[in-house]
Amino acid sequence: MQNLFDFSGRVVVVTGASSGLGADAARAFAQHGADVALLARRKEKLETVVNEITAGGHQALAVVCDVCSEDSVKAAIAEVLAHFGKIDVLVNNAGIAQGGSVETLTTEQWDKSMDTNVRSIFLTGKYVIPQMKKNHYGRIVNVASVNAILADKAPQLVRHVYNASKAAVLGITKGMAASYAQDNITVNAVGPGLFESEMTAGTLFTNQSFMQMYNALCPASRPGARGELNGPLLFFGSESASYTTGQFITVDGGFALV
Ligand SMILES: NC(=O)c1ccc[n+]([C@@H]2O[C@H](COP(=O)([O-])OP(=O)(O)OC[C@H]3O[C@@H](n4cnc5c(N)ncnc54)[C@H](OP(=O)(O)O)[C@@H]3O)[C@@H](O)[C@H]2O)c1
Repeated sequence: MQNLFDFSGRVVVVTGASSGLGADAARAFAQHGADVALLARRKEKLETVVNEITAGGHQALAVVCDVCSEDSVKAAIAEVLAHFGKIDVLVNNAGIAQGGSVETLTTEQWDKSMDTNVRSIFLTGKYVIPQMKKNHYGRIVNVASVNAILADKAPQLVRHVYNASKAAVLGITKGMAASYAQDNITVNAVGPGLFESEMTAGTLFTNQSFMQMYNALCPASRPGARGELNGPLLFFGSESASYTTGQFITVDGGFALV
């Protein structure tokens, strides 16, 4: 029987893989047979995850990369190609969640968020798409957020640039999907609800009244558990997604429904 989620022989690049959802994604692709390249700025953190993956008998490479810098992205992609020879799957996961309203945000905070969350997808695409086209194969998965489609007046969730940047992720997902479908490159997005990570652990998860409010509003009455984003990521990253492109799946226990 064909294994729909067999990544043997596939090379997967995950940005923002030094912690949280990106590190878990890299672990999950490796567990399903992929060779994985983990990109982020913090070398030691990357190496810890890489060592864990290689100890499990899989191939993994730590590549220091600042997704806000074109030179850094260009060099990182070249390093992955030199090491693994190709890139089949690109998971654009690196992101920051800057709080603040249009009144309180500085222009520097605005630019940094847009650079990290959106311009990064343009940069990785610029250097990965040409070789995916050459190989007539590619799967790109962009990590957006429920905040791409939802806003909230709760003070912890007033994040205007985060809303703008994650909505832009959906826009670039659709545009790229339409352009590259004929090259057998699919481009899809996931929208996590609330998951514990460096981004949320010390802020949202330690705020009891916020967590009570979240659980009351969320149909599943809880945040996402570790690993619950991996299924949609693996699906969009797999050969099984060959006729699925430009789509957005929220992974939020139904939060965006209500
Ligand atoms: N956790 C949630 O509840 C939630 C909900 C919705 C969406 N998301 C999205 O999920 C993605 C992962 O977030 P997370 O929750 O796992 O948070 P996290 O643990 O803070 O991870 C963020 C990752 O992005 C990397 N990163 C940030 N800026 C970067 C840069 N300039 N260049 C390269 N890498 C950079 C960080 O690595 P370095 O610092 O080492 O560079 C880190 O590996 C983000 O796009 C986030 O918006 C998360």
